[in-house]
Amino acid sequence: EKDDRWTAVDQYAIKHLHPPGSANYAAINYAIQLAEEKQLPSIEVSLLQGKWLQTQCQLIDARHVLEVGTLGGISSIWLGTSSSRVRVTTIEIAPERKAVAEQAIAHAGLSERVEVMLGAGMDVLPKLRQEVARGERSKFDLVFIDADKPNNLNYFNEAIQMVRSRGCIIVDNVVRRGRVADDELAKTDSQVEGARRVIEGAGADERVLGHTLLQTVGEKNYDGMLICVIK
Ligand code: DHB
Ligand code: MG
Repeated sequence: EKDDRWTAVDQYAIKHLHPPGSANYAAINYAIQLAEEKQLPSIEVSLLQGKWLQTQCQLIDARHVLEVGTLGGISSIWLGTSSSRVRVTTIEIAPERKAVAEQAIAHAGLSERVEVMLGAGMDVLPKLRQEVARGERSKFDLVFIDADKPNNLNYFNEAIQMVRSRGCIIVDNVVRRGRVADDELAKTDSQVEGARRVIEGAGADERVLGHTLLQTVGEKNYDGMLICVIK
């Protein structure tokens, strides 16, 4: 089902939008090599998706960004290089992945800008929420949810309480090669169910001003992201 044209277009665009020697080319390249060497699952954002996230940050002049699911820190580096004033907090459950991400982030020169917090999303997010509520931490401009899919809606419900007015929440992997539209799979596949729950939850949430689902193709096959703007 994967179409060679999708990969060809990714490669063509990257050649011009992310050429060798460009801003964070070396940093991203190092992070990709390191993730491969440490045998992390190769489920990271594609180069164009990383650039898309970076561009979203630039659109809303994001200063405070939260990521759930660090893996090897590749998306963290894209987010952390959206501007010189951005600060990224990223949550990773696995200590060995946190170590890999921190090595890549340090190599990118972003250790002051990107903080990796160790723990399960549902342990760390309530702590961050309390810090925000007490005024000890700024609200977030943008949240990227890209962790265990069954918890998508739980992460969304935590995140929405810490996003500034007109800030946004982006959820990765909500299309899953079209499986999200399959009513039968939704009953048996916890990943599909997790994608559906956050789409349906966001759709019914009165705290959300605007939302859409962006279907994507590319070298990562067919997937999509949910994007919500918060009232
Ligand atoms: C897959 C891709 C992702 O981006 C992710 O966060 C989890 C899983 C996948 O392709 O299976
Ligand atoms: Mg993902």
